[in-house]
Amino acid sequence: MTKSNIIVDNKSTESATKTKAKATLVVEKEVVAKATPKPKAAPKAKAAPKAKAAPKAKAVPVVEIAKKKILFVTSEAAPFIRTGGLGDVAGALPVTLNELGTDTRVILPLYYDIPESFRKAMEYVGSVYVTLAWRTQYCGLYKSVYNGVTYYFIDNEQYFKRAGIYGHYDDAERFSFFSKAVLECLRLIDFYPDVIHSNDWHSALVPVFLDSFYRDNENYHYIKTVFTIHNIEFQGKYGDDLSEDVLGLPADKVDLIRYAGCINFMKGGIESANVVTTVSPSYAEEIMDRYYAYGLEMILKDRGNKVCGIVNGIDTDVFNPAKDKFLVKNFDYASIEDKAVNKEALLTMLGMEYNHNTPLIGMVTRLTEQKGIDLLVARLDDIMQSNVQVVVLGKGDWKYENMLIELASRYPEKLKVIINFSTDIANKIYASSDMFLMPSKFEPCGLSQMISMRYGTIPIVRMTGGLKDTVQGFDPTQLTGDGFTFYSYNADDMLDAIMRAIGTFNCKREWNAIIANAMSKDLSWKASAVKYLELYNKI
Ligand code: GLC
Repeated sequence: MTKSNIIVDNKSTESATKTKAKATLVVEKEVVAKATPKPKAAPKAKAAPKAKAAPKAKAVPVVEIAKKKILFVTSEAAPFIRTGGLGDVAGALPVTLNELGTDTRVILPLYYDIPESFRKAMEYVGSVYVTLAWRTQYCGLYKSVYNGVTYYFIDNEQYFKRAGIYGHYDDAERFSFFSKAVLECLRLIDFYPDVIHSNDWHSALVPVFLDSFYRDNENYHYIKTVFTIHNIEFQGKYGDDLSEDVLGLPADKVDLIRYAGCINFMKGGIESANVVTTVSPSYAEEIMDRYYAYGLEMILKDRGNKVCGIVNGIDTDVFNPAKDKFLVKNFDYASIEDKAVNKEALLTMLGMEYNHNTPLIGMVTRLTEQKGIDLLVARLDDIMQSNVQVVVLGKGDWKYENMLIELASRYPEKLKVIINFSTDIANKIYASSDMFLMPSKFEPCGLSQMISMRYGTIPIVRMTGGLKDTVQGFDPTQLTGDGFTFYSYNADDMLDAIMRAIGTFNCKREWNAIIANAMSKDLSWKASAVKYLELYNKI
């Protein structure tokens, strides 16, 4: 087993200060006390004595501290494979946790859709067999180190060698296999983490399987579990027969995953994990309510004392207007006038006219009910009466796609709808727009509002979930705040917030203040990773 690696040298104030952040987070209190004693105040009467050289005989005491071992279990992780926000979280949080001094590793399925360039860099680790009720399935394991994080990939061609990562007829079996394989593979890599952190329904069964099949083994006995809900809408609900046919759980554990007449993976995760988190404190409160909980409110209320919210960050290296290779001209706050160069280029590319005084509202979104597209289509005609242009990039439900295409055909000069997803165009929209609209019905965290702020693009948001926790409404009297906000899920309230934003756009002093506030906001992962680490240390 690998021990060590934070070394606290209590003779060197400089290194003690440098390591302090790490040490206080990962070390038990007594150890910290030993490692970094408080400096005594110099006696008042005497002048400060010259620092004496350390006596040679005494060796510098070095305290070796075991790194906290975390296994982050996820169904997607950028840059290998990503379909949404979970992929971004899995690509950034473990990196930051390791910068804080942990040994965090990530494990995900070896999907066919992972690009060849990444596959080539993988190393074969070994194989084990995984039992799922009456089946015994092969499980290969590969690994790859990226950005200071070891990623493990679970290989089984029957389950993962196909196009598309979700939405297959046998998803329940595929992700049950994945969750059990994760536990089986620990002995292959001889890595028994302090904490297994699983995410969303796809890996919600990890704590259930751990409690049902592995606790008697001393290596697994003390492992703690964290389960994070990124979106409670998707719970992994299946017919009751799955339990006997695939999961093979002991009779006394089946109730953990049974809920409202079916098998519910997410419910199992909530019941079994030591701690349940979600991706913002406001969403943690909201999901106690029927309106947001998609049927799980009673379960969450019962387990309320172990539920908390930690807001996501964004990867500020990836989302950086000063370096983003998709921009026509890079900029930062000091060269904010170059934002307009991007705006002109984007509008020209889309066949729209550029006018410096006409604000551009951008949207990069899934076209689904969650994202508040109903409100948008209900008020687009009204929005179009103002001096404004709108660009929407996204795909999703065909009814919203069709409604937006029809609306765009009526306002060719002012509204462009691109039914697609492209990182290139997405980043151009983040950088070029003056405002970014996110009228979500619910939003566990949301990343786009943070990306927009980083690019000096002012969010217009409904105050729900992570939007409430990351955007502060603009106060023109104090010049504080970094966005325009509304509360009720109501089209007129959204329109009002849009009109306030448009009205403020040409007040240069105010608009510059909002941009300055947005661009100077700390949106990095650091603060959130510290909170996760505190949580891992506490359980
Ligand atoms: C889901 C949520 C989104 C969140 C993301 C990452 O996609 O819908 O709000 O930001 O997960 O946690």
